[in-house]
Amino acid sequence: MSAALIDGKAFAEGLRQKIAKFADEFEAKAGRKAGLAVVLVGEDPASQVYVRSKGKATTAAGMNSFEYKMPADASEADLIAKVEELNADPAVDGILVQLPLPKGLDEQAVISTIDPDKDVDGFHIINAGRLSVGQKGFVPCTPLGCLMLLKDRLGDLSGKDAVVIGRSNIVGKPMAQLLTDANATVTIAHSRTANLPEVVKRADIVVAAVGRPEMVKGDWIKPGATVIDVGINRVDGEDGKTKLVGDVDFDSAREVAGAITPVPGGVGPMTIAVLLRNALVSAYRRENIALDEDAL
Ligand code: GUN
Repeated sequence: MSAALIDGKAFAEGLRQKIAKFADEFEAKAGRKAGLAVVLVGEDPASQVYVRSKGKATTAAGMNSFEYKMPADASEADLIAKVEELNADPAVDGILVQLPLPKGLDEQAVISTIDPDKDVDGFHIINAGRLSVGQKGFVPCTPLGCLMLLKDRLGDLSGKDAVVIGRSNIVGKPMAQLLTDANATVTIAHSRTANLPEVVKRADIVVAAVGRPEMVKGDWIKPGATVIDVGINRVDGEDGKTKLVGDVDFDSAREVAGAITPVPGGVGPMTIAVLLRNALVSAYRRENIALDEDAL
């Protein structure tokens, strides 16, 4: 039997339409548009593509996009000064500094200067702390997007066995926290986990976020499990061109899983949609306008 495909692209499109509607309402109530600022340092081609897509998606949702480009040899002091200027700018509700930063710039130092209440990436330690103790803050976009897809597919996650493969601060750890808060029983697996296939085999929910192309095989998966593949790996295809694959061996996994996200078109499109969501939520909070955040 072949797994159902979880269409992240379609879900993200629906979310973006909802955001656009709430962005219009925000503008009518606040007398200004919500605004998201993105800072790009250097010329990394992949980052340039991401930043361009973020800018386009922001304007398409009826929000202001502010883009700042700095040279690869910008000093940490210059970058921090830019972040502080954005912290103080009332038109800016969300600040994102595109990562990775060029060598020599300390990412943690830069992120920790972002006003936590404008940190729509959820990377500031204050927001990591808020998530871990259950206070309102900002949750990193990719794991929040994965949770949305899981709830859409499965409804209540109470009592489900979930395995998160990967323990990064950006995906694995917050994902495990979100699943725990949703009453799943969570195991965090990683490169040193013993008997990883057996650990994965217990799971009703598998979230793969390790950055290893096609590592999770179909025979690791419990029949009927829901598989969320966060990996985006560029590998050489048979035709000599490169192709994108996830951390899950899609062809074998889809024969066993109940539902699975494809790569591309699964988790990927969710990240920008959730970023817009976080930026709009920030705008509502900063203007003290009521919003049912769970509806977004
Ligand atoms: N680089 C790749 N993805 C992201 C993201 O979600 N946020 C930031 N700040 N940088 C990234």
